[in-house]
Amino acid sequence: MKPTREQSSPVDVQQARIVTREAANYIAQQTELRPRVGIILGSGLAPLADQVVQAVTIPYTDVPHFAPSTVVGHPGELIIGLLEECPVIIMRGRVHYYEGYTMHQVAFPVRVMWALGIKFLIITNAAGGLNPDFATGDLMLITDHIGLSNMVGLNPLWGPSDPEIGPRFPDMSTVYDPELCQLALQAAADLGISLQQGVYFMSSGPSFETPADLRFLRLIGADAVGMSTVPEATVAHHAGIRVLGISGISNAAPTEPSVDKLDHEEVLEAGRLMVPKLAALIKEVLRKLAAEMSADSDRSCVDSRTAT
Ligand code: HPA
Repeated sequence: MKPTREQSSPVDVQQARIVTREAANYIAQQTELRPRVGIILGSGLAPLADQVVQAVTIPYTDVPHFAPSTVVGHPGELIIGLLEECPVIIMRGRVHYYEGYTMHQVAFPVRVMWALGIKFLIITNAAGGLNPDFATGDLMLITDHIGLSNMVGLNPLWGPSDPEIGPRFPDMSTVYDPELCQLALQAAADLGISLQQGVYFMSSGPSFETPADLRFLRLIGADAVGMSTVPEATVAHHAGIRVLGISGISNAAPTEPSVDKLDHEEVLEAGRLMVPKLAALIKEVLRKLAAEMSADSDRSCVDSRTAT
C-alpha cells in the first residue's frame, strides 16, 4: 500500500495511534518472535541481514502505512529473526527525506518498532568522513549528532504530541545511550576492531556537499556527514528507546575541490566492504547486551521470544 503524505502526517493523536497500531499489528501477526532490539541498515549494509536465522521477511509495501524505499541499496523489507540468538527486527534499507517523504514518514517505522516493544535500536548508516583522522572503511561510533534539520522545522516530532509516547519537549543531551556506547567500544576492543568516535551531521540530500559546505560542517564540529539517522534517532530517543549509532565511513568528504567525483555506487561498494566488520561488531554488542541484561527483564534484549 503506497502511503500518501497525509497518512503519516501528524494531524491528530488518535489517528496517529490507529495508523501506528495497524502497522504494528500487521507485523506482529507475521511472527511469533517479539524482538526487543531493532536494527536499521544503511546504504550498502543490507547484506548483514542475511546472517539472521529463522528469518521472516516482510516487504515494506505489505505493511500498512509504511513508505516504500525508492533507493538502490535499500531493499525495503523487514527481517525478523534471530541474530546471535537474540530476537531482532531489522530494517533492511530505510526511507529518506530526500525521496520526497516527510520526516514523519521517515521515522514512522521507529514509532512502529516502539509499538512492537523495541527497547534498543541500533542505527547504522554510510557517511562521508570529515574528520581528517578517518579513513574510508572505518567504523564510527556516533556519540552525538548535529540535528540542523530538527532545528529548522523538519523535526519528526513536529505536530500534536502524544504523552503516551514521550514528552512534548524531550531532552536531547544523551540521544546515543552512553552505556551502549561503552558496550560498543568494549565489543570493538574485544574483537580488535578499531572504532572511531564522532559527531554525525545529517544533510537532507540528495546532493552531496560542496567543499565549502564541508568546511562549514567541520567548523561546527561534525566528524561525519550523511543523509539519515537524525529523524530515526530523535523519534526513538523521545519514546525511551536506547539508541546505538554506527556510521560506516564510505568516502572522504573533501574540504577542498577534488578531481575524484563521488557517486552513490562508491558509497554502496564501500558499505558492502564494511559489512563483515560491522556484522561482527553488532553481533558482539548483542552478545554483551544479552549477557549484561538478561537478569533484568525490563532491560533484557532476549527474554520475550514468543507472542503474548
Ligand atoms: N555526504 C552525504 N551523505 C553521504 C556521504 C557524503 O559524503 N557519503 C555517504 N553518505
